[in-house]
Amino acid sequence: MRINNTTQLTLENIEAIPLTYGAVILNKEKFIEALSEVTTLNDLSSIKNRIFLLKDIITNHKKDQEGILNIDANGDTVSLRRDVLTSELNQILESQTLERANYYLNRLKESIKKVKTSKVNDINLLRWKEYDDIITDSLWVLDKRDTSGAHLGWYWGNFIPQIPHQMMLRYTKKGDWVLDTFVGSGTTLIECRRLGRNGIGIELNQEVAQKAKELIEKEQNKNNVISEVVAGDSRVIDIKHILNKYGIDKVQLLIMHPPYHDIIKFSKDERDLSNAENTEEFLKMFGAVVDNATPYLEKGRYFALVIGDKYSKGEWIPLGFYCMQEVLKRGYLLKSIIVKNFEETRGKRNQKELWRYRALVGGFYIFKHEYIMLFKKRGR
Ligand SMILES: C[S@@+](CC[C@H](N)C(=O)[O-])C[C@H]1O[C@@H](n2cnc3c(N)ncnc32)[C@H](O)[C@@H]1O
Repeated sequence: MRINNTTQLTLENIEAIPLTYGAVILNKEKFIEALSEVTTLNDLSSIKNRIFLLKDIITNHKKDQEGILNIDANGDTVSLRRDVLTSELNQILESQTLERANYYLNRLKESIKKVKTSKVNDINLLRWKEYDDIITDSLWVLDKRDTSGAHLGWYWGNFIPQIPHQMMLRYTKKGDWVLDTFVGSGTTLIECRRLGRNGIGIELNQEVAQKAKELIEKEQNKNNVISEVVAGDSRVIDIKHILNKYGIDKVQLLIMHPPYHDIIKFSKDERDLSNAENTEEFLKMFGAVVDNATPYLEKGRYFALVIGDKYSKGEWIPLGFYCMQEVLKRGYLLKSIIVKNFEETRGKRNQKELWRYRALVGGFYIFKHEYIMLFKKRGR
């Protein structure tokens, strides 16, 4: 279900609000009523007294004689993060003037009454402080991969689930469609299921595609979304045909995590980007995938490219930036370049010492980062 300005944020449609800090569930009508009452008070100390009482009620059930914490099964409820609500109430309590107190009061009331989202996600901008699990910095240092649920991490060359997770929270709404043209072990589609997004993945290697399908099916599908993995070559596969099967002609997020050229050989198939003869050939193949997918991305929506650089014959090859150029050549707008720390691949882990020695001798630095490049398709 899409949340817009008129639908209420209820327990059913609430999403992306981290509950780790403890949520307080309130009777929405009663709470708004209580706040409205406070706004009619004309002196600062009465406002503060009343807010003090409300704060007390929220932290102590027994003090609630107004039914603010009384959750009626058929009534409208609102779930707020306890620490954020407390801090909003404190702001009112610390106000030095009546105007300031009223300003904070009204802001709190509006944030409970209304839901304000953008065109591309479900983040309630009136309650933006509650979303501190959403990364907005361009440097990502993630120490652990998420291995919960169906995320096993068995596939050499997969990405960590936090990447599609973050991308979907920022750039899709519930029920949107996500296309991953290098789906590998299905990480994106597993995450799609968790977040209630429909997902289509294309993978060249039949066996890998089959294994991905089985893995994705192991993830619960509470939101009843579509998860489709198609085996094929993303440069030429008929995407229109796949989308038409579901009665759609566009997706709302495009994710690409191509091979970083030949760093990992994924197969012996000559259609595999990891078998491109040289950098130029690799970029041509990558460009062909971008060309094939672009017509099916909705205008104004996002394309996330996950890519790293490589080192070859004594030279750093900036594959990431070369790929970025290929995308920009096709008219996309560059929105961000995120630098993310790089987990050691299994191959390199045993050779740590050797790589350090090589780096010292060869005058280079060992790769510890990769990029998430974010593009927006122009137009509305
Ligand atoms: C870096 S991996 C993607 C891993 C994926 N993000 C995951 O988490 O499992 C790149 C994948 O692209 C696939 N691939 C290579 N060339 C392809 C092509 N022409 N069309 C579709 N898939 C291709 C490879 O088989 C490999 O599984």
